[in-house]
Amino acid sequence: MSRAIRIVGGRSLSGTIAVSGAKNAVLKHMAAAILADGLSIIHGVPRIADVEVMAEVLRRIGADVRFDGHTATIDASSVSSYEAPYDLVSTMRASILVLGPLVARLGRARVAMPGGCNIGSRKIDLHLKGLQQLGAEIRGEHGYIEASAPRGLSGAHIFLDFPSVGATENLLMAAVLARGTTVIENAAREPEIQDLVRFLRAMGADIEGSGTSTVTVHGVPELRSAEHTVIGDRIEAGTMLVAGALAAESLTVEGADPSHLELVLSKMHDAGVEVLVDGTRMTVSRPERFRPIDVATLPYPGFPTDMQPQFMAMLAVADGDSVITENVFESRFMFADELRRMGADITIEGHRAVVRGVERLSGAPVKAPDLRGGAALVLAGLAADGETVVGDTYHIERGYEDLVGKLAGVGAAVEWVESTEGGASC
Ligand code: UD1
Repeated sequence: MSRAIRIVGGRSLSGTIAVSGAKNAVLKHMAAAILADGLSIIHGVPRIADVEVMAEVLRRIGADVRFDGHTATIDASSVSSYEAPYDLVSTMRASILVLGPLVARLGRARVAMPGGCNIGSRKIDLHLKGLQQLGAEIRGEHGYIEASAPRGLSGAHIFLDFPSVGATENLLMAAVLARGTTVIENAAREPEIQDLVRFLRAMGADIEGSGTSTVTVHGVPELRSAEHTVIGDRIEAGTMLVAGALAAESLTVEGADPSHLELVLSKMHDAGVEVLVDGTRMTVSRPERFRPIDVATLPYPGFPTDMQPQFMAMLAVADGDSVITENVFESRFMFADELRRMGADITIEGHRAVVRGVERLSGAPVKAPDLRGGAALVLAGLAADGETVVGDTYHIERGYEDLVGKLAGVGAAVEWVESTEGGASC
């Protein structure tokens, strides 16, 4: 028996939602804790399923991981195993982020190859090529990637073909303990990577150029214990802002840095949604009708692919035709099929979606196709006529802390219900 989320549309939201710490930052901070021969204390940890999986990955390699509310304490002094097994990596692809830190710390890593994920084929060739350039020998055998560098890693000049978030992070975490200097060009610049750099620096790493596309790492012999607070989750904040745009009289979202959402806020403005920014508080209300807009996803500071489904839900009820172009992932439009079941008029042509706005969506039983698509279905349900039941919610629980509680807290008619349907994990 799994759980589903039931939403009755049409309620007006009002109040304040506090966002949690950023999922896409904390998972990397936890992996980085492997690098310190001692305690790492991380505050602002969202209690989501992906964090539990990363904790389990760390425990399997011998780390002691404890949670006290939103604080994680990770003792990596007794890390002895170098293997991230398939049962965990297949549950969460971000487990491959232990590859770089393990090779850097132990000179060896054995990490299961991540399986297919339902937002398109997500390769790791850039991670592996970069590690090879740092001197690791890489072999792929029996579904595992084996990396070894018995004499340690050495600095290198690495040019990424694409500014991959995960590859930039894996290589940063490998380079901090390498001999000499590493330069990563065409590096990803996401705020979560900048937060990882802040944590690594607190541990004693020597890194320049954070937030730019050329990051320089001067290797140090060892890293020490550090304490760090994770940045607020810009994607959760963006998700809640779209909830407000769809259904709020006045909704304030606090705890994320509005400068991390610059393009999202500007696109909301173009769509006729005004967001008032006051420090880390952003306040939004529902416009009469949305204006149609064109959106194209790109690596940061471009429009985030992780906000694409939420915008599709919003534009589905706009006054005209919008075009959404997905440039980061292949096949990230499965969500459109579910939204069509709610009455949306969407045509997919390759990596482009043409969204023809309709007057109203109508509630329906749907299934979360992935994390962000799942959240977007909940948002669509807030504005739809009648009842929407979202199944396969394990996707949503991977990355949103208490989505149901937070929305119910501002007046949404949303609740957990039992569902007899299950599904495979990604
Ligand atoms: C991270 C985020 C995810 C977000 C994505 C893009 C985490 C845990 N996840 O995922 O929420 O949607 O960034 O902002 O932080 N690629 C290659 N070869 C590689 C690596 C990537 O071809 O070696 C391709 C992928 O197939 C994909 C694109 O690059 O099409 C982007 O991937 P990447 O930036 O690496 O995303 P993730 O780190 O997996």
